[in-house]
Amino acid sequence: MINIKKLLPLALSCIFLQPAALQAQQQQSAEEIQYRPNFHFTPKANWMNDPNGLFYSEGIYHLYFQYWPYGNVWGPMHWGHATSKDLIKWEEQPIALYPDRFGYIFSGSATVDLKNTSGFGDGKTAPVVAIFTYCDPSLEKAGKDAQSQGIAYSLDNGFTWSKYDEGNPVIKSPGIKDFRDPKVTWDSEHNQWVLVLAAQDKAQFYSSDNLKDWKYLSDFGVGIGAHGGVWECPDLFQLKVEGSNETKWVLLQSLNPGGANGGSGTQYFIGNFDGKTFSLDKSFEDKIINGKAAWLDYGRDNYAGVTWNNVPDSEGRKIMIGWMSNWDYATVVPTQGWRSSMTVPRELKLQKFNGSYRLLTAPVKAIENYSSNTLVKEKIKVKDIVTLATGETIDFTAVDIQAELRNLKSGIYSFVLSNAAGEKLTFGLDNKGQFLFIDRTVAGKKSFSEKFANTVTKAVLDKVQKEGNFRVLLDKTSIEIFYNDGETVLTEIFFTSKPFDKLTITGPGGEIKKIKFNQLKFNK
Ligand code: FRU
Repeated sequence: MINIKKLLPLALSCIFLQPAALQAQQQQSAEEIQYRPNFHFTPKANWMNDPNGLFYSEGIYHLYFQYWPYGNVWGPMHWGHATSKDLIKWEEQPIALYPDRFGYIFSGSATVDLKNTSGFGDGKTAPVVAIFTYCDPSLEKAGKDAQSQGIAYSLDNGFTWSKYDEGNPVIKSPGIKDFRDPKVTWDSEHNQWVLVLAAQDKAQFYSSDNLKDWKYLSDFGVGIGAHGGVWECPDLFQLKVEGSNETKWVLLQSLNPGGANGGSGTQYFIGNFDGKTFSLDKSFEDKIINGKAAWLDYGRDNYAGVTWNNVPDSEGRKIMIGWMSNWDYATVVPTQGWRSSMTVPRELKLQKFNGSYRLLTAPVKAIENYSSNTLVKEKIKVKDIVTLATGETIDFTAVDIQAELRNLKSGIYSFVLSNAAGEKLTFGLDNKGQFLFIDRTVAGKKSFSEKFANTVTKAVLDKVQKEGNFRVLLDKTSIEIFYNDGETVLTEIFFTSKPFDKLTITGPGGEIKKIKFNQLKFNK
């Protein structure tokens, strides 16, 4: 028989104890279900910003990240760590780097030192060397130059690290307040290690034979390109021009604020690097005069993106990842358990275009391996409001959509994602104003920041479009648009109260020749 007397205290304790602990737990799992992305990397808990130390070794892509492990806003920086075999499924690893007596561990990079030029090797495994910025909080408080560059090495392929205590910092501050985010790479053309870092309003280049002793080479950027804020997180690498044997040097340069549509953003420059100096390609100059810039992404949520080192040449790939947020509101976005995610990893290609060059960006191919089924529709006339798919057939929280628009007219083509709560995310092409856009002004929560959804994001196009191809990746809280094979890219986040369950298009005529919905499935 059930002993009521015995059960009563238990029942009462459940009733009274439930609120605090259980409620928090329930809230957390509700947030997990609602906002934890399906296929974009997020830390299990707490704050993350920039990607750091990207390298590939022995079948594993390593991703480190700016991490504050004890809270959901920015704090004393550590390097968190995650690994992946295919760049899509990530496994979080123990924290890689902790602050020490030189300060917090800000952004930086890592490389496999194949020839053991650093001497850190043990004769068995090639050491991995990380170079990062130390930021000393007490110097900063005292208004002194607080940023310098330090190194650490790993003898187990990036899982555990030792700081180079006897030699750190390896690059001292030259008296510049913002002096950070070193990106190292092997410069095979000039047989040297080359490093680029951000020094307030310019990029600075250094070279080394051993990754420990660094020689200042030159700088680039004063008065060139966009300067609406401090330059941060540069990257320098060589890229082959598609369909030719020509190679060019690419400089990625993030800045905050001053991005294409406000806040944080990333611009790029194409040129040459002679082992000492980076100079712009002549054909690229007029793209960036008078404060103009070439933007890697026009959306508001792709920042501090850098590329993986040591991806084998045979793969021929330059792959980058960015932080999918913006300093304008990153610390107040409506998730509590963790804050922010990364973009989908993207492959960069360099294309000759109109006598100059441009970077094309596309999601890495591996995303296609997660396609579970495909819905294809053809020959859809674009007029009035046409429903393209609903929640009955498509889960809009994990889908890769590809739409080919043809015979376009002057006017506005709007794709509208909506749900029963009346929330709408609109994106598309204004073929009169000649721009692409994302409008998240009525796409759910926004009151957490005045800057989050105050305007429509735009990416200006160089001409009226007769046709255009949209590739759109949707996750629970993000949209990534790659227009015409990544000629123009827009990445943004949103926070709906329930998932979108309908996609429509309206426009002034023309047709969708074909639209493909690749439903993505991730067995977790
Ligand atoms: C960019 C940045 C870097 C810095 C890091 C600190 O988002 O400001 O310049 O190293 O974040 O977390």
